[in-house]
Amino acid sequence: MKEVGILVVSYGSRAASMVDAFSRSDKYNVTFYIADKQRNPYNMKMAKISEGDHEVTGLDVNKIFGFARKHRDEIDFGIVGPEGPIIDGVRDRIENELCIPIICPTSKYALEGSKIRQREIIEKVHPSANPEYKVFSHEQYQTEKEAIEDLEAWIDKNGIEVAIKPDTPAAGKGVGVWGDHFTTKKELIHDWFLPNLKGGTVIVEEKVKGEEWSLQFISDGTHLIPTPPVRDYKRAYDRDLGPNTGGMGTYTSQKTQLPYMEPEDWKEGIEIAKKIFQKLKEKARPESLRGVPLYMGYVSCKDGVKAFEINSRFGDPECQNTMALMKDDFVEVCLKMIKGELDEIKFKDKCTVLTYAVPMTYGEAREEYTGTKEIDLQKAHRLKEKHGDNLRIHQGSMIEENGSTKTGTSRTVCTVGIADTIQEAREISLNAIKKIDGALWNRWDIASKEHIQESKQNMKKLRK
Ligand code: GLY
Repeated sequence: MKEVGILVVSYGSRAASMVDAFSRSDKYNVTFYIADKQRNPYNMKMAKISEGDHEVTGLDVNKIFGFARKHRDEIDFGIVGPEGPIIDGVRDRIENELCIPIICPTSKYALEGSKIRQREIIEKVHPSANPEYKVFSHEQYQTEKEAIEDLEAWIDKNGIEVAIKPDTPAAGKGVGVWGDHFTTKKELIHDWFLPNLKGGTVIVEEKVKGEEWSLQFISDGTHLIPTPPVRDYKRAYDRDLGPNTGGMGTYTSQKTQLPYMEPEDWKEGIEIAKKIFQKLKEKARPESLRGVPLYMGYVSCKDGVKAFEINSRFGDPECQNTMALMKDDFVEVCLKMIKGELDEIKFKDKCTVLTYAVPMTYGEAREEYTGTKEIDLQKAHRLKEKHGDNLRIHQGSMIEENGSTKTGTSRTVCTVGIADTIQEAREISLNAIKKIDGALWNRWDIASKEHIQESKQNMKKLRK
């Protein structure tokens, strides 16, 4: 076994799933240096048993840099989970000052940093993937009245069913969607448009009807490798009700398809991403695009595929499905990425279903929760005796405190089932969820037969 030191910048169970994937390497013995959002018990254990280090740095680039500098002689490369430090230039700083290769795009090529930039680049390369949209900037207008008149003129032409988004990422905050967050023009203008406009620049987009899927691309800067498409469940409650969240669960089915997708959807999704990548490559040094330069959020709609977001990182929880499906050694995949020699990744012919268990107050489910926050995963882990490697349990917002394990305020822990069919994978995931001892809740309809059937019927209706 060869020795390798890996820096993992962690936020949630996405990074824990990468640590798990690295630790499964049968060619490399990994020492983990984990710059974490919190005292995640799994990450702390993995750093300790590998004789590495774990530090709570949060998302602060200076602190992450300080941690990397402390271990500069032991770290061979780093990988970054969350978008904040990517946009804030964590890679640029560590590579320039410490010469440690980092896996994530450079700040300049993190398209996630601006929704307007995303729309502009799509407009250049594949305009049909953009919904109708318009950008409104604070400095364009002398008075609020002028801005409102401009918006109303656009609505008269394009319809009132819109999504309102601030230009820069706000972790879902500030994003308002017709029918979900507002149902009158007055609400649209006064509760969403004007408050967002005060913050600077706002983008108003036609709300696209269809079924969502996401496609993450891994790249060495030269090759763009698609991973299997994933369905994410963004709304907090069953039947897609309640507020938006980071994602309450996900499923995958085939390498190039989900049950409600047509082969053409996949082809168009690939084509859009390739064109964007090509455009970025015109100016970028290839290695600038290393990592996951494109996470494409797509909607299959009436007449093809539209892009509703671009991220510059693995999704959470889409990453966990991808790690569960990856056949290749993830350490080797990363080393090839750094050398610019990653031209293929092999994935299993399996389905995956992931369910997140979240704290009582998550997704506005409770105003307050004053009971115990202790979590015990032992019984869930014991299920691995039955399911073996087909069950993965990844700790997210969990905190080790004075010898006990507690939930934090965000998505606590996810269970991933891997099987030949979606329903078998779902059963494994839910069996493990039921064994978690603690005050958490979860959606029960992730990848349910009924939900999948509804998606299929919706597509059939839209495309008839
Ligand atoms: N699950 C959605 C995201 O990671 O952005």
